[in-house]
Amino acid sequence: MSNRKILVTSALPYANGPIHLGHLVEYIQTDIWVRFQKQRGHQCHYVCADDTHGTPIMLRADKEGITPEALIGKVWEQHFADFNEFGVAFDNYHSTHSEENRVLSAMVYTRLRDAGHISSRTITQAFDPVKNMFLPDRFIKGECPKCGAAEQYGDGCEVCGATYSPTDLKNPVSAISGEKPIAKDSVHYFFDLANFTEMLSAWTNAGHLQPEVSNKLAEWLGGGLQQWDISRDAPYFGFEIPDAPGKYFYVWLDAPIGYMASFKNLCDKQGLDFDAFWAKDSTAELYHFIGKDIIYFHALFWPAMLSGAGLRTPSAIFAHGFLTVNGEKMSKSRGTFITARTYLEHLNPEYLRYYFAAKLSAGVDDLDLNFDDFSQRVNADLVGKVVNIASRCSGFITKRFAGVLSANCAEPALFADFLSANASIAEFYETREFGKAMREIMALADKANQYIDEKKPWLLAKAEGKEQELHEVCSMGLNLFRVLVLYLKPVLPVLAAEAEHFLKLAPQAWTEAVQPLLAHEINEFKPLMTRVDADKITAIVDASKENLEKTAVVAASVAKQFEPIAETIDFNDFAKLDLRVAKIVKAAAVEGSDKLLQLTVDIGDETRTIFSGIKSAYQPEDLEGRLTLVIANLAPRKMRFGVSEGMVLAAGPGDKEIWLLSPDSGAVAGLRVK
Ligand code: MSP
Ligand code: ZN
Repeated sequence: MSNRKILVTSALPYANGPIHLGHLVEYIQTDIWVRFQKQRGHQCHYVCADDTHGTPIMLRADKEGITPEALIGKVWEQHFADFNEFGVAFDNYHSTHSEENRVLSAMVYTRLRDAGHISSRTITQAFDPVKNMFLPDRFIKGECPKCGAAEQYGDGCEVCGATYSPTDLKNPVSAISGEKPIAKDSVHYFFDLANFTEMLSAWTNAGHLQPEVSNKLAEWLGGGLQQWDISRDAPYFGFEIPDAPGKYFYVWLDAPIGYMASFKNLCDKQGLDFDAFWAKDSTAELYHFIGKDIIYFHALFWPAMLSGAGLRTPSAIFAHGFLTVNGEKMSKSRGTFITARTYLEHLNPEYLRYYFAAKLSAGVDDLDLNFDDFSQRVNADLVGKVVNIASRCSGFITKRFAGVLSANCAEPALFADFLSANASIAEFYETREFGKAMREIMALADKANQYIDEKKPWLLAKAEGKEQELHEVCSMGLNLFRVLVLYLKPVLPVLAAEAEHFLKLAPQAWTEAVQPLLAHEINEFKPLMTRVDADKITAIVDASKENLEKTAVVAASVAKQFEPIAETIDFNDFAKLDLRVAKIVKAAAVEGSDKLLQLTVDIGDETRTIFSGIKSAYQPEDLEGRLTLVIANLAPRKMRFGVSEGMVLAAGPGDKEIWLLSPDSGAVAGLRVK
């Protein structure tokens, strides 16, 4: 086995929110792979950083009344602590708001510019006249130009699925100030991605990507590559463009360069050779682990930027799927939007490391965290199979044999069998087929338990003249346990370290030349892992719901900017509206929509179907049976999910803050509001 030189990254988490269990799929996956490489004796460096720039971070700092620097400093501490407690062992955890990143971003940009890949031109964009800033698409709200749905964002409609540019929205308002945006001109800088069409067509087909990813890219490349807008106007939290005062690099320009910056910082601390990893002729391996949502940035923009700047391109990009919880997208109201911190307050992080490992493959499929399955797997595999072997054998060794293993290996063939699995388990780790690796290891654990079941040490212990057999069987069990722990070590570093202490072993490297421990002294056994306590899971879900209530209170206290009063109408205009008291007889989620609930309402003589964008604020079951108000004479509207025959009345800025109107008690369905 030759000594490889490997640099590994995980995507840089945004500094505007906490680490959650979805993120951890990626960091745990990467960490397992890195630990495996290190255990094999390779030179492997794992770097990451907080992604600190951009409008959302600037606005959040504003809202909290602190500087962006203070905000990102605070969040960095939290992210770092979360990762650390989950055993995610970065060699360096840096920040994109660092001197290294400023210098490297300027260098990459200057090289791209000098090679003729940057151009500039004036574009017109929405501008918030109160906040005095250009508005990113996500910060403009209005009515969909296609279907008329209200409260849609500038980049696309949730209701009919249309995509459009924010200037197409009807009655647009700034999501920050509530003011109507004006159109304003400004010079922007662009990266001419089309110059790299050929380079990218070759690169994306040269084995650097998973097959499903390169297929996706072929589609994108086929559609033609647009210029990429890499500048933003002040006010913006980021790096100023060297030759363009008042213009800042768009966050996604300096974010991937943050990988280099974090590594540069590590090189300076440890005396490593930066260029050996990043120069065009580098022979080191470079891998980026990312989620499937950011493939475009990593498999198109990033290799093009690197190549245009005369640097090496990645050896491979490893994309993974998204985490769902109990089969659904993580949801704040269901309590399944679980932060790393909330989890850590209740459960052992190694449970989750094992569970994710057991579910991960090399593909981009989503994976589900199902709490019943989680408890069952951890209890059955780790506690019931692996740890159980040690607890069944160790007591006899301590009590009857003064803590020393037998000098004889009772079952050399069985031991050899365990060692022969080494190569295929290693191959599964290498190719990120962690689920397959876990299955193979658990099959070995079953074998070890079968061996103990057959030999029945608890009976041998009571029988006459079976002393030596008891000694050999228990020693054999512990030798098998030792090999299992070696194989599980990338996934369960804490359990492995405790097992090494118990077995009085130095940290175990990944080797095929494992010898059985003979006449070897061990320490007294202490339970290495306990069963998952179901109450803890309930507590996590409850705590996650509470977090939500707290943020809702904060949000409510800042959302007090009201829309101006609309134009005066006369009574006849009002009289045209037929408002009715309605009873919600049925409410259900709409498959494929994050926003809508389908309501069946009784308005007296008729029953209507109404689609309403209130899903973020209401559970369907809480609505059934209650009274509300609807506009009964609104022309039916065809939506992607069906025809909406009216509209229910509600107030509030959106998200959690939507409040349905209801009449005083005594009113009945069908009454007209006058
Ligand atoms: N800041 C960018 C990445 C810049 S890399 C130069 C970003 N940050 S993120 O915080 O939104 O996400 C960080 C990583 O976590 C991404 O790879 C993302 O795909 C992953 N995940 C975020 N939510 C996830 C799930 N629910 N499930 C699995 N991975 C998820 O994107
Ligand atoms: Zn629409």
